[in-house]
Amino acid sequence: MESVQAIKQRFGIIGNDPKLNRAVEKAIQVAPTDISVLVTGESGVGKESIPKIIHSLSHRKHGKSIAVNCGAIPEGTIDSELFGHEKGAFTGATQTRNGYFEVASGGTIFLDEVGELPLTTQVRLLRVLENGEFIKVGSSKVQKTDVRIVAATNVNMFEAIKKGKFREDLYYRLSTVEILLPPLRNRKEDIHLLFRKFASDFATKYKMPTIRLTDDAVTLLEKYHWSGNIRQLRNIAEQISVLEQNRTISAVALHGYLPNIGSNLPAVISDDKKDSDFSNEREILYKVLFDMKGDLNDLKKLTMELMQSGNNQQVQKDNEGLIRKIYREEDEKEVNFEEPTTPAAEVLQIPSHATSVIKEEDKYHFAEEIEEEETLSLQDKELELIKKSLERHRGKRKAAAEELGISERTLYRKIKQYDL
Ligand SMILES: Nc1ncnc2c1ncn2[C@@H]1O[C@H](COP(=O)(O)OP(=O)(O)O)[C@@H](O)[C@H]1O
Ligand SMILES: [Mg+2]
Repeated sequence: MESVQAIKQRFGIIGNDPKLNRAVEKAIQVAPTDISVLVTGESGVGKESIPKIIHSLSHRKHGKSIAVNCGAIPEGTIDSELFGHEKGAFTGATQTRNGYFEVASGGTIFLDEVGELPLTTQVRLLRVLENGEFIKVGSSKVQKTDVRIVAATNVNMFEAIKKGKFREDLYYRLSTVEILLPPLRNRKEDIHLLFRKFASDFATKYKMPTIRLTDDAVTLLEKYHWSGNIRQLRNIAEQISVLEQNRTISAVALHGYLPNIGSNLPAVISDDKKDSDFSNEREILYKVLFDMKGDLNDLKKLTMELMQSGNNQQVQKDNEGLIRKIYREEDEKEVNFEEPTTPAAEVLQIPSHATSVIKEEDKYHFAEEIEEEETLSLQDKELELIKKSLERHRGKRKAAAEELGISERTLYRKIKQYDL
């Protein structure tokens, strides 16, 4: 039996995650049998390589292998595509046609997105699985076929069964062995490895130097949610490979390519703006700084008022209100992350970092307006508010967070940040 490593190499599967290795191992083990296999996992995790492995390691390897995307075939023609039809079975059926199950006899059929099959087709499929029998559309003659079935789905089959969209008996028939491919976010160690592989492939393809990531960018890459999994990672590696002139990619540059990232960098991430072209670092920084500048100007005004009017209660209130508002916006953005992760801003160390980077390089004229002092006095204010609130609630974080109008998580982060 070929080893997992050899098979991964043969099929171009990158990664060393134990769950990925287990999936490949299962495919190798089950290949010589005729057992039905159901491949599950989110979109873009690499499900399509599993039926290829199974077919080529099976005794059917010299037979046909047909892949059918069940979600892409219109409901009206799917029975005819899969099982064939008789001449005159419906308008336009001018000739008898053999379906995939007949053509692939002796081989393997891969039913991709099997959860999309209409219920009537599911009945026909169940019959094939039970005794190899099928009937062409418009015929009454029972035919036999000898096909190995591998199916794949990215939908939760139990949900589909509960909703009456998928037959339970068919599900159990299809999933004699289930092979689960893990989402990319659960394969942290493989993310940079895959990125480097894709970067090198695209460098060759487009005849450009290979892009490489700074350490900060790698951290950001590994913390990102990757809802589109490897397909999305590949796509982003391609975009950056083509668009970035500077071949060393910083976290800030990378950030502009990651849609829906949960952080407090609103300009770069808000949904309605994600389609705009943030292809270069400068543009991203402009957007970030514009937003920060707005907030800082408000705070500057309030701080001035506060200083001028001593301990004026009303101003104090306004000030607290504004800080609360900023926090709340930050909290809302964080909802995008399903898992507890560090917001990108912390990885990037923005705002303090972004401000100083720009001051150093002195490229961005408006950045001069943002004084480091302002950031510092804002932090003092924030620290004072948090301290007072914690004192009032005798260190009870839940109550303090409630009073400040922020989440406990944000408060916890701030406590760590200020070493309280
Ligand atoms: N482990 C991997 N190593 C390299 N490329 C991969 C890997 N897994 C998936 N890919 C690539 O990612 C893309 C999506 O894979 P695919 O099998 O079509 O996903 P799915 O069918 O699960 O949606 C393809 O371009 C595929 O070649
Ligand atoms: Mg697919």
